[in-house]
Amino acid sequence: MENLKVAIGCDHGGFHLKEKIKEYMEVHHIEHKDFGIFIKEASDYPEVAKEVSKAVASGEFDRGILVCGTGLGMSVTANKTKGIRAVSIENTYSARVSRAHNNSNVLCLGERVIGDYLALDIVDIWLKTGFEGGRHKKRIDMIE
Ligand code: RB5
Repeated sequence: MENLKVAIGCDHGGFHLKEKIKEYMEVHHIEHKDFGIFIKEASDYPEVAKEVSKAVASGEFDRGILVCGTGLGMSVTANKTKGIRAVSIENTYSARVSRAHNNSNVLCLGERVIGDYLALDIVDIWLKTGFEGGRHKKRIDMIE
């Protein structure tokens, strides 16, 4: 895995899984910053989604991971930031291809939708998979 800097965030619906992902980051020595929330209390997912998206779009971080109840509110919000290609992922194949073909830079997960072990496999694959470029590069340029 290249030396990635990863920005992480969640709302109350994703707090538990965000903490699990932080543990994974620590065990694998992956540089990361937690943008909150830091205690499990009701919060508005667009706030952290915007912060993490800006941190990735600015180039300060290579990737972002956002967790809410479904992954959906986070991905809808993150995709409003120019340069962000956020994907809401529930299986390992999509995790791999979202990187290889779509060069996704923000991964959104739903704690209420998938279990911890599947989520951590998705994170692992998503972090380790590179963008294939080639014919896919032209299509990414078309999005921008
Ligand atoms: C919070 O209840 C929930 O709506 C939020 O975590 C997320 O699933 C939104 O998309």
